[in-house]
Amino acid sequence: MKKIIIIGASSGIGKELALLYLQQGATVAALARRTRSLEELCETNPKYLYLTADITDYSQTKEAILSLRARLGRIDMAIICAGTGELNPKLDFEKEAPTLQTNVCGWTHLIDLLYNIFEEQKGGHIAAITSLGGLRGEPAAPAYSASKAYQINYLEGLQKKAFRSRLPLYISDIRPGFVDTAMAKGEGLFWVMPADKVAAQIFKALQRKQRIAVVTKRYRPLAYLLKYLPFTLYKRL
Ligand SMILES: NC(=O)c1ccc[n+]([C@@H]2O[C@H](COP(=O)([O-])OP(=O)(O)OC[C@H]3O[C@@H](n4cnc5c(N)ncnc54)[C@H](OP(=O)(O)O)[C@@H]3O)[C@@H](O)[C@H]2O)c1
Repeated sequence: MKKIIIIGASSGIGKELALLYLQQGATVAALARRTRSLEELCETNPKYLYLTADITDYSQTKEAILSLRARLGRIDMAIICAGTGELNPKLDFEKEAPTLQTNVCGWTHLIDLLYNIFEEQKGGHIAAITSLGGLRGEPAAPAYSASKAYQINYLEGLQKKAFRSRLPLYISDIRPGFVDTAMAKGEGLFWVMPADKVAAQIFKALQRKQRIAVVTKRYRPLAYLLKYLPFTLYKRL
C-alpha cells in the first residue's frame, strides 16, 4: 500500500487529502507548523504519522523529511500543499516577505530535497498545489500570484528533467481556483469550492498522474481564458 508525505496537511486541502488517502488504506505522513491540528487525525488512524516542520526553516525541514524517509522506507508520493499569501494592495514589503520565504524559498528547498530523494530511489510522484492565480499577475496580491507563477514554471522544469531522466518520476502541477479555506481572501470571490470536493478531484488527477490539473472542473474554461486573454482586456477585469 502507498506511502505518502503531505506537507501542509494541518488544514484545508492538505488535511482533506490526508483523510482521503487514509480512507484508501495508504500510510500518510503529515508535516506543517501547527502540531495540535496535525494531532487531530492521530486518534482514529493507525497509519497516520506527523512531524512539525516550518518549510522556511531549511534544517528543520530537511531533518523532518529525512527522518520520515528513514521511518517509511520508500516514499511513493509527496504532495506539497504548504503555502501562504496576503492581500497587499498597498505593496507593503512586510506582507510580501513571508509569501516569498514560504512559496518561493522554502518551497524550492523542499521540492529540491524531495526530487533528489525520488531520483535516488529511482521513481516516485511529486505533486504541488499551485494556483490558477499563478497564470496572470494580480494587483491585490502581487507576490502571491508571482510566487505561484514561479512554482508553475519550476514544476515544468522538473517535468522536463524527469522526462529526460527516463525514470518513472512523475511531477504534477495542481491548479485550484477558489477553495473554501483560510487562504481564500478578499472581496468578489466566486465559485468558492469546498475543500473536500477539491481534494477528491485532486485525488483522481493524481491517480492518473496528470501533469497539470485544474480543479475543480468548472474552472477549466476560465483557466484557458486567463492564459490566453490579451492584456488589453485582462487589465480591465
Ligand atoms: N484556498 C484557495 O482559494 C486556494 C486557491 C488556489 C491555490 N491554493 C493553494 O492551496 C494550498 C493549500 O492552501 P489551503 O487553501 O488548503 O489553505 P490552508 O488551510 O491555509 O492550508 C495551508 C497549509 O500550508 C501550511 N503551511 C503554511 N505555511 C507553512 C510553512 N511555513 N511551513 C509548513 N507548512 C506551512 C499550513 O499549515 P501550518 O499553518 O500548520 O504550518 C496549512 O496546512 C496553498 O499552497 C495555496 O496557495 C489555495
